[in-house]
Amino acid sequence: MNSEPRAVVLGEHCAMAQAQPNIALIKYWGKRDAALNLPVVGSISITLDALWTRTRVSFEPGLEQDRVSLNGRSDAAEAKRVSACLDLLRQRAGVNWRAAVDSRNNFPTAAGLASSASGFAALIHAGDSALGLNLDDAEKSVLARRCSGSAARSIFGGYVEWAHGKLADGTDSVASPLLEAAAWPLRVAVAITSTAAKEVGSSEGMRRTAQTSPFQSAWIDSQEADLNAARSAILARDFAALAAISEYSCLKMHALALAAQPGLLYWNGASVECMRRVRALRGQGVPVFFTVDAGPQVKAVCEPQAIEQVKSALREIPGVLDVVETGLGAGSRKLTEAEFVSRDAPTSSGGSDADRSGIDSASPVAGHSASPAPTLTRHRGEAE
Ligand code: PMV
Repeated sequence: MNSEPRAVVLGEHCAMAQAQPNIALIKYWGKRDAALNLPVVGSISITLDALWTRTRVSFEPGLEQDRVSLNGRSDAAEAKRVSACLDLLRQRAGVNWRAAVDSRNNFPTAAGLASSASGFAALIHAGDSALGLNLDDAEKSVLARRCSGSAARSIFGGYVEWAHGKLADGTDSVASPLLEAAAWPLRVAVAITSTAAKEVGSSEGMRRTAQTSPFQSAWIDSQEADLNAARSAILARDFAALAAISEYSCLKMHALALAAQPGLLYWNGASVECMRRVRALRGQGVPVFFTVDAGPQVKAVCEPQAIEQVKSALREIPGVLDVVETGLGAGSRKLTEAEFVSRDAPTSSGGSDADRSGIDSASPVAGHSASPAPTLTRHRGEAE
C-alpha cells in the first residue's frame, strides 16, 4: 500500500497540521453527555513527540461530498466521523463547502496508541486554518473534544489537564497546559503487546461501565483528590509522587471497568508481565511507572537516564512485539506543505526508536505487517 501523501495544487481554503497522541496519567473514563463527549471526571495527560498524525484539509466549494483518505485508504465509517467533525468547523465558519481530507499516522492505527486523539486534534487544527477561523487553543480543544474526548488534550503539549466542566453546553470542558514538556522531559517506552483492534471501544466500554459497574460513583468521587495529587507532583517535578498517583489511577480505572457486566478486560498476559516488570524495576530504584489505557499496550514512563534499561527489560518479556520510545512533545500546530509531505517529524527529539525503526505509515512495527486501517480507527463504526 502506498500511503505517501500526494503532491497537490493547493487551493485557497487548504491547510495542513500535525498533532501527537497523548497518554492519560489520571484517566478519563465515563461521559456525562455522550453526544457532546463531556466527561464525568477531569483528567491529566502527557503529549508525546515521536508519534504523529499529519492531516491536510482542503475545502473545495465544487465538491459534492467530503473525500476522506486515512493512511491512503477510504473507510465509510471513519469518513462519517470525519465529516461530523468537519460539520462543526463548517458551522463556525458559516459555509457548507465539502472538503478533501488526507491524513496519515507514523504509527500503527489500531494498536491502542490514541490515534483518535492525534487524528482529531490535527483535523481541527488544519480545518481551522483552512477556513481562516483563527480559533484560539481553548476553542480548538472544545471542538476536538466533541470529535473524540481525549483529542481535547492533544491540542496542547507537555503536561495537560482536561477539566470535566460543569456547564451543560460543555464550553467549560476544555484542556489547558500544566507544564511544558521541556520543563520535565520524561521519556516513555511503549510496549506493544498486540496489533489487533480492541474488542470493545472506549465509548462502549464507558457506557457499559456507567450502567453496570458498582464502583462508578466511587470513581467519580475520588477523582478530584487524584487530580490534585498529580497536579502537585507535576508542578514539583516529584517523580515518586507522580508514579504512585498515576499507577493508582490506571489500576483504579481498570478495576472499575473489570467490574462492569460483562467485565472489560483490556489486558493480555504480556500486559500484566510488563506491569509487574515495571514495578520490580522501581523496587530496585529505577525511576519508572506504568500506565495502560483501554487496550493491551503498556506505557512505561521514566526519567531520561532510565530509558535504555526500561526498554531492554520490556523487550525481554515474552509477548512484547516491539518497544517504541518517545519523549514528550508539543501541541497541535500548522505545517507547511513541505513538512506535510516530508517523512521526518519536524519536532521529534530526533533520536527516538520510532524514528530509528522507521515506524511510519509505510513501515510496520517490527515483525508485523503495517496496519492498513485508517488513521482515526479505534473500533470500526463506533464513536470513541
Ligand atoms: O477519548 P477516548 O474515547 O479515546 O477515551 C480515552 C480513554 C482512555 O484512553 C482509557 C483514558 C484517557 O484519559 O485517555
